[in-house]
Amino acid sequence: MIVLGSTSEVAQAFVEKTLQEGEKFEKIYLFTSNKETTERFARHIDVKFVQQSEIIELDLTKEIDYNKFENINSNLLFCATGYLGEGTEEGLYDNKNTERIIDINYSKLVPVMNYFAQKFESRRSGTIIGLSSVAGDRGRQSNFIYGSAKAAFTAYLSGLRNYLFDKKVHVLTIKPGFMATKMTEGLPLNPKLTATPKQAATCIYKAYKKQKNVAYVLPIWAVIMMIIRNIPEFIFKKLKL
Ligand SMILES: NC(=O)c1ccc[n+]([C@@H]2O[C@H](COP(=O)([O-])OP(=O)(O)OC[C@H]3O[C@@H](n4cnc5c(N)ncnc54)[C@H](OP(=O)(O)O)[C@@H]3O)[C@@H](O)[C@H]2O)c1
Repeated sequence: MIVLGSTSEVAQAFVEKTLQEGEKFEKIYLFTSNKETTERFARHIDVKFVQQSEIIELDLTKEIDYNKFENINSNLLFCATGYLGEGTEEGLYDNKNTERIIDINYSKLVPVMNYFAQKFESRRSGTIIGLSSVAGDRGRQSNFIYGSAKAAFTAYLSGLRNYLFDKKVHVLTIKPGFMATKMTEGLPLNPKLTATPKQAATCIYKAYKKQKNVAYVLPIWAVIMMIIRNIPEFIFKKLKL
């Protein structure tokens, strides 16, 4: 299994869920920009599940050496990589913040995804799971740089799914609403609409097993986003969302 964004609590909960369900992996490749924290998780799965893992450093804001990935093969890729950055106010006109959001959520991430997608294609099997966001379903004033990068990532995953369909590779797009993780720490989230990493992992695992194409975390977000997508633009532009 390949995990991109290994310090994500959702990624870690998903890895644990798959191991608890009895799935077997020759090795789990933990890609991370934060080796120290990932080492703790690697030790944890080794002790709890006797699962071999390898940590591979990947910082999308730096030059990527693809030679390091040459011998990495797998049947399952889980991408939890993402970066919220600053929303409007301070962040919007700060080009460094804008570039970082677009790079980590889309422009620097897609070449890495493509690198592994090509390997899946040549093996003619496997599943690629990408965590996008409900923020990509419609641009809102509170976080539209992040939202636009996620919209691009959602479109990428949709195209990849279409392209890989007859190559026997399945692509699952996950659209989380709110999740209680380090990304949203300190934000005032409605608890009824917020998934814990464990709940999110269970939702994602079910969608993976059912070979779904697109799944929301939590399912209520599918209803919320259907309403939001259907608000006429002349009303939507006046809303403070
Ligand atoms: N939390 C939410 O409410 C929410 C809502 C909608 C969508 N999402 C999406 O769900 C996914 C998981 O999010 P999360 O809540 O678990 O947030 P998170 O803990 O911040 O996870 C995102 C991961 O992205 C990786 N990452 C960040 N900067 C990177 C860089 N420069 N290079 C390479 N990797 C980098 C980090 O992993 P490493 O430290 O291992 O590199 C980080 O753990 C993300 O795609 C996020 O956008 C989250």
